[in-house]
Amino acid sequence: MSKLNIGIILGSTREGRLSPQVGQWVKSIADQRGDANYEIVDIADYKLPLLGEADATEQATAWNEKLASLDGFVFIVQEYNHSITAALKNAIDYGREAWNNKAAGIVSYGSVGGARAAEHLRGILGELLVADVRVHAALSIFTDFENAFTPDAVFKPADLHLTNVNGMLDQLLAWSGALKTLR
Ligand SMILES: Cc1cc2nc3c(=O)[nH]c(=O)nc-3n(C[C@H](O)[C@H](O)[C@H](O)COP(=O)(O)O)c2cc1C
Repeated sequence: MSKLNIGIILGSTREGRLSPQVGQWVKSIADQRGDANYEIVDIADYKLPLLGEADATEQATAWNEKLASLDGFVFIVQEYNHSITAALKNAIDYGREAWNNKAAGIVSYGSVGGARAAEHLRGILGELLVADVRVHAALSIFTDFENAFTPDAVFKPADLHLTNVNGMLDQLLAWSGALKTLR
């Protein structure tokens, strides 16, 4: 059986964002497992305008083609005003069928591990028939990053998060494989 394709979606797009560091860390853990094809999916690359504000046929097509090529998702979620970023919500809204009957795991960060944003995302995913797995890596902006609110921010995750990332990936692959049979 061919390997599943899992997209690691960076949820933030701002200048100086921390999500690329977190996404690369998740990818390096995932790649060591060798059990799926893992790739970083950067929303910023798709230059999606706010939905409905401009003709974005080309960008929307490229984004949906990328989503359609994936069997499951790891969302790198950062907390903005107790929820997910507007960029992530907008990108989610650009897709419909391409999300359906797939699975997702969450790695979040913020002052309380990005927990409030992660829980909001779970509600959104339900509407899109994306099955979100239970295990969740929640990183602290205070203890898992050095100089977090400066341009010199460096991601230094505590060892304990490794267990949760692997536990999340175990569940994600199981459900991504199971849901593939529905599509
Ligand atoms: C507009 C905005 C709102 C934020 N609101 C929250 C918040 O409600 N709770 C929280 O824990 N952190 C909050 N933060 C801090 C972010 O979690 C932190 O800056 C994080 O690095 C943002 O992710 P990014 O670097 O990938 O953009 C906020 C940051 C921004 C830019």
